[in-house]
Amino acid sequence: MNNQIEETNHYVQSLLLNERTGHDWYHIERVTKLATYIAEREGADLFIVKMAALLHDLADDKVAYDEETGLKQVVDWLTSQNVSADEQQKILSIITTISFKGGNGSPVESLEAKVVQDADRLDALGAIGIARTFVYAGAKGDPMYDPTIDVRDEMTKEEYRHGKSSAIHHFYEKLLKLRGRMNTKTGKQLAEERHAQLEQFLETFFQEWNVKF
Ligand code: ADP
Ligand code: NI
Repeated sequence: MNNQIEETNHYVQSLLLNERTGHDWYHIERVTKLATYIAEREGADLFIVKMAALLHDLADDKVAYDEETGLKQVVDWLTSQNVSADEQQKILSIITTISFKGGNGSPVESLEAKVVQDADRLDALGAIGIARTFVYAGAKGDPMYDPTIDVRDEMTKEEYRHGKSSAIHHFYEKLLKLRGRMNTKTGKQLAEERHAQLEQFLETFFQEWNVKF
């Protein structure tokens, strides 16, 4: 079993080491560590949680050619590692349901899915979350801020991915909402400090943007 995790670790690392969209290997490594920490406190199945955390971004349409191709790659990998059909089904259902997608994803069900989703969301908060947002916006060609763009509250997945936006807008459209959407007690606790970091950052950002002394 540990061997399957170890092998998956190497496999994902080799695939994502050069990813530049915020889904790089180090994101996966942090999410897997966070998920393991939460799983231990919440009594979730560690094998399922670690495997799902390691594989969670491979089917994302920002990483894979498309979601279907990405999922097939994950299934082929799990089969090659002799992961049982029952475990494969649990891992796949986590990967397919946790993405935020503008707030339109269906709610997660298993404890293991809740744990992995919390871990992924925590990595979008705090100092790391701030840094990832600016890297993502830069890669997409968005400005760091544009005061002429409205903040969108409700949006379709299409609008979320392709509408006009800025890094600062992303804080209001997604990041500040995550604290209220954490699933587990441990996840909620960890989100508090990271949420406060976002608010602190925004306060300073606008002070400096408006050149206030
Ligand atoms: P999604 O929420 O669509 O699944 P991810 O969470 O995979 O996107 O996004 C990867 C990182 O990039 C996260 O830190 C996320 O907050 C950030 N990000 C996603 N969309 C944007 C955007 N439009 N502008 C700035 N940052 C973004
Ligand atoms: Ni992720």
